[in-house]
Amino acid sequence: MEKNSFILVAFFLMLSCMVAPSHGKKQAEALSHLYRTKMKGSSGIVTSLFEPIHSISKDSVHPQEGMKEKDRIEKLPGQPDVQFSQYGGYVTVDKSVGRALYYYFAEAQHSKDSLPLLLWLNGGPGCSSLAYGAMQELGPFRVHSTGKTLYRNRYSWNYAANVLFLESPAGVGFSYSNRTSDYNESGDNKTAADNYVFLLNWLERFPEYKGRDFYISGESYAGHYVPQLAHTILQHNQKANKTLINLKGIIIGNAVINDETDVKGMYDFFESHALISEDTASRIKKHCNLSSEDTTNSTRECIAAVDEAHRDTYNLDIYNIYGPLCHNSNLTARPKKTSVMNFDPCSDNYVYAYLNRADVQEALHANVTKLDHDWEPCSDLVGEWRDSPSTIIPLLQEFMANGLRVWVFSGDTDGRVPVTSTQYSINKMKLPVKTKWHPWYLDAEVGGYTQVYKGDLTFATVRGAGHQVPSYQPKRALSLIKHFLTGAPLPDTSRYN
Ligand SMILES: *[C@@H]1O[C@H](CO)[C@@H](O)[C@H](O)[C@H]1NC(C)=O
Ligand SMILES: *[C@@H]1O[C@H](CO)[C@@H](O)[C@H](O)[C@H]1NC(C)=O
Ligand SMILES: *[C@@H]1O[C@H](CO)[C@@H](O)[C@H](O)[C@H]1NC(C)=O
Ligand SMILES: *[C@@H]1O[C@H](CO)[C@@H](O)[C@H](O)[C@H]1NC(C)=O
Ligand SMILES: *[C@@H]1O[C@H](CO)[C@@H](O)[C@H](O)[C@H]1NC(C)=O
Ligand SMILES: *[C@@H]1O[C@H](CO)[C@@H](O)[C@H](O)[C@H]1NC(C)=O
Ligand SMILES: *[C@@H]1O[C@H](CO)[C@@H](O)[C@H](O)[C@H]1NC(C)=O
Ligand SMILES: *[C@@H]1O[C@H](CO)[C@@H](O)[C@H](O)[C@H]1NC(C)=O
Repeated sequence: MEKNSFILVAFFLMLSCMVAPSHGKKQAEALSHLYRTKMKGSSGIVTSLFEPIHSISKDSVHPQEGMKEKDRIEKLPGQPDVQFSQYGGYVTVDKSVGRALYYYFAEAQHSKDSLPLLLWLNGGPGCSSLAYGAMQELGPFRVHSTGKTLYRNRYSWNYAANVLFLESPAGVGFSYSNRTSDYNESGDNKTAADNYVFLLNWLERFPEYKGRDFYISGESYAGHYVPQLAHTILQHNQKANKTLINLKGIIIGNAVINDETDVKGMYDFFESHALISEDTASRIKKHCNLSSEDTTNSTRECIAAVDEAHRDTYNLDIYNIYGPLCHNSNLTARPKKTSVMNFDPCSDNYVYAYLNRADVQEALHANVTKLDHDWEPCSDLVGEWRDSPSTIIPLLQEFMANGLRVWVFSGDTDGRVPVTSTQYSINKMKLPVKTKWHPWYLDAEVGGYTQVYKGDLTFATVRGAGHQVPSYQPKRALSLIKHFLTGAPLPDTSRYN
């Protein structure tokens, strides 16, 4: 049994969250918040293996006729002309209390009838897939520094799939519950159940996607959400003895997988990337118990070493260690020069401004009930988190046993859930190697490295990408997702690509 082991992260991040962005919490800071809570012996957070809510009643699926056309987005304010269709709206996941999740759907740029359906989830917990996934990572548009207009992302994943972005759980972004006490009862369990009910209803609304090859993707804490939703789908398919949702595979990036190895990998990454001294690293190894879940027993030496690691990394963007910081988060009267290939670290602020505009919300069919709070990239409403297993490895093993495609990727300049953590977590599974480690190529450059395990599981790094891989390496990320969706191995030669 894996033990929960956020002790050091707890110390480390108690301070690091003081790097406050001007709006809401950044995705990975929200993750730190969970870690801190998880570490308080008294938090009552459940860390046992994920066991989903078993019977999702047929009553939670409602007729959706006519609702698809109502959700069609004619045009977003300040949007360039495009050829694909967009939709946005609410799906009720609990009628009795009035709980509804917001989605944004970008159909494929071409061949929408044959390309698969891909769901993208961001983590946190509490962060919005509209804020990050859609508007800063893999969606069709990015927001200008004016906060008013959009420009095109030519490496949008809707060149490879019909892409669905979901704000979940309720309390995140535009998603809400009329019973606000729901926000304090959030957790992995309920998130998976609501996401599943969302999907069943969404497929009623978009019946042409029923039976379509379906894949789930996500990053960071979605390393929990994605497998847990996949597990729920498999379980319900098995129970019904038919394919209710045609799930074919999952892909997770810089993902929270296994607490103990995630923490160990973080400090090893700091050391191997010369962010902390060898001395500090060795004192952490010597004095800190990486597999202990209780902070009360940590030694003074451990606390001092962790504190030093914190001071050494405090002024970095730990989610993209070689990248610039946002020094001026003000909007600009004229759009700054943009390049999809050169991510602007102040983007959170532009997206915040854009999505809080009344005309944008109207175009998106969002905030129809006039919520009493702003739209935030990461929610302050989602407070206590009830359950968060210390590992999701058993779920990955289950998917491999059931023939699902499983890919795990990692932007190799993320220091928060770094590549070392992911490698250690995969190593825990002791899978035999099928295709040994090799560089993969794009445009005659090394796009990253990959190793395929028997089972099947593909591990792939994306070279030069931080925590939000498609933000920093959009072209490599698009190539990666295309290979994943078609099941083609990443190319081990620079000749054909
Ligand atoms: C999740 O839900 C299932 C079924 O309702 C329950 O058995 C399990 O204890 C729940 N887990 C947590 C951590 O709440
Ligand atoms: C929440 O309450 C508002 C106001 O009563 C209502 O219009 C809305 O439909 C409710 N939401 C859901 C999902 O039932
Ligand atoms: C959630 O819990 C916090 C802390 O206990 C409390 O202050 C807040 O009022 C609760 N929110 C709701 C909506 O119940
Ligand atoms: C499941 O469905 C298959 C055919 O689709 C049938 O042969 C089999 O008996 C079913 N199993 C159960 C347990 O109903
Ligand atoms: C580390 O913590 C775990 C869990 O609390 C405990 O079982 C183990 O004995 C500890 N190891 C050391 C070296 O103290
Ligand atoms: C903390 O240390 C005390 C004294 O050594 C020990 O009895 C207790 O089990 C430890 N707690 C944990 C969680 O390791
Ligand atoms: C940002 O805008 C505020 C208010 O207009 C202004 O006071 C401040 O100097 C600006 N910051 C920078 C760094 O330009
Ligand atoms: C919803 O609309 C209200 C009223 O216009 C606004 O005050 C609030 O900030 C909006 N909330 C969200 C989550 O968009």
